[in-house]
Amino acid sequence: MATKTPKPISRQRERAFLVGVDIYNQDKLLSLEDSLTELSLLAQTAGLDIAGQAYQKLDRPNPQTLIGPGKVQEILVLANEVRADLILFDEELSPRHLRELEHIFGEEIRIIDRTALILDIFAQHAQTKEGSLQVELAQYEYRLPRLTRAWTHLARQAGGGGGRSGSVGGVGLRGPGETQLEVDRREIRRRIIHLKEKLEKVRTHRQQYRSRRRRSQMPVVALVGYTNAGKSTLLNKLSNADIYVADQLFATLDPTTRRVELPGGRPVLFTDTVGFIQKLPTSLIASFRATLEEIADADLLLHVIDISHNNAIAQVEAVHETLIEIEADNIPVISILNKIDLLIDPEGARNTLIAFPQSVAISALTGEGTQELLNAVEGILYSSNRTISVRLPYQQGGLISLFHDVGQVEHIEHGESEVFIRGEIPVRFLSKLQPYLVNKSV
Ligand code: GTP
Repeated sequence: MATKTPKPISRQRERAFLVGVDIYNQDKLLSLEDSLTELSLLAQTAGLDIAGQAYQKLDRPNPQTLIGPGKVQEILVLANEVRADLILFDEELSPRHLRELEHIFGEEIRIIDRTALILDIFAQHAQTKEGSLQVELAQYEYRLPRLTRAWTHLARQAGGGGGRSGSVGGVGLRGPGETQLEVDRREIRRRIIHLKEKLEKVRTHRQQYRSRRRRSQMPVVALVGYTNAGKSTLLNKLSNADIYVADQLFATLDPTTRRVELPGGRPVLFTDTVGFIQKLPTSLIASFRATLEEIADADLLLHVIDISHNNAIAQVEAVHETLIEIEADNIPVISILNKIDLLIDPEGARNTLIAFPQSVAISALTGEGTQELLNAVEGILYSSNRTISVRLPYQQGGLISLFHDVGQVEHIEHGESEVFIRGEIPVRFLSKLQPYLVNKSV
């Protein structure tokens, strides 16, 4: 588990034609061009070559094909000209869109969307059993409503573990027809149930491990950030570890935890986990719940920002949105402006810091600023307090005494089976009381 090594990508390189869509009035973090650039990076991470791209601005999505019929025909011609193997849409396609487009493009050119692509990258990068199970579940949930005859063969061998050739929604042998389709749907539903059961078992183990960790008294600091921001590089630097770092998206998927000593000699646990991205598929967030809980359970978040990136601010916004979605937006945060070594004007980055209330500028690569960062971590964990409200069952006598010993109780109410306490506690004890918090945003 210590060293992350990439799995070999066994597939032949396929040629993807990218299609961007700008729908009027739709909330978006990135411009059409920037979102397509990101899609192209995702495609390359998945092992695809880029054959070309096109986009369309629309007032509203076309119910049949997402983009308009004229544009579909134009792309069909272009894609044939550049010998594309697949058309990659930057928006998630509904089952109907997919069906109609598959019908128009025929068997020679496959249709996939951003969600299927991200799922495929996750499948390639999952290293642990839990990671693979989570991706497999998300893939089946995504595929079930989209199952057409074209998917039948694939469906039988779909799932995590990654690296299989053609797993980017590849068309395999066609099933004999509708009846076979029904059988496949039933089979997928059965597998979804089975995967959920298996994941439940793995989660029980993880929870036991987490409660052991909570008892170990060590505060937990979680690294969060947009994919490729430099989280693994930073964890390596801080812990002298050897975690797989790559200039590709979603290199880290499974949580990695390292013990790091703060300047005063006190140990903390740093954990690095999956990176975020705009339009992160909801099926993935749902099935990665357990992994993301690692973040929601931390005492402190380090939000790693690639300050050298053109879209740094939009990426910060995407991370905030995901933190809200996983209910981790109440945890104290230090914003880390990373990659300052790439800036022509590092002073500029320092000025940008003003916009981020609690922040440090660093280079995870050269180590510049990391000492200052550790001081800031120590400062927050050991000298700052948080006001919280908790409901503690009487069986948790240890935690009730802890609150009295280390915190300042402002209000206490004794109920039949539990005690309600509101008061201040040092931030380093937050994670112990986390499961009993009332109204997490207090
Ligand atoms: P995901 O696994 O996608 O979530 O990425 P991550 O946030 O863990 O990023 P990772 O540490 O894998 O770094 C991504 C790329 O940025 C790698 O090529 C790193 O070498 C590079 N990188 C990280 N920090 C710095 C930095 O401070 N300066 C420079 N120049 N490059 C950096």
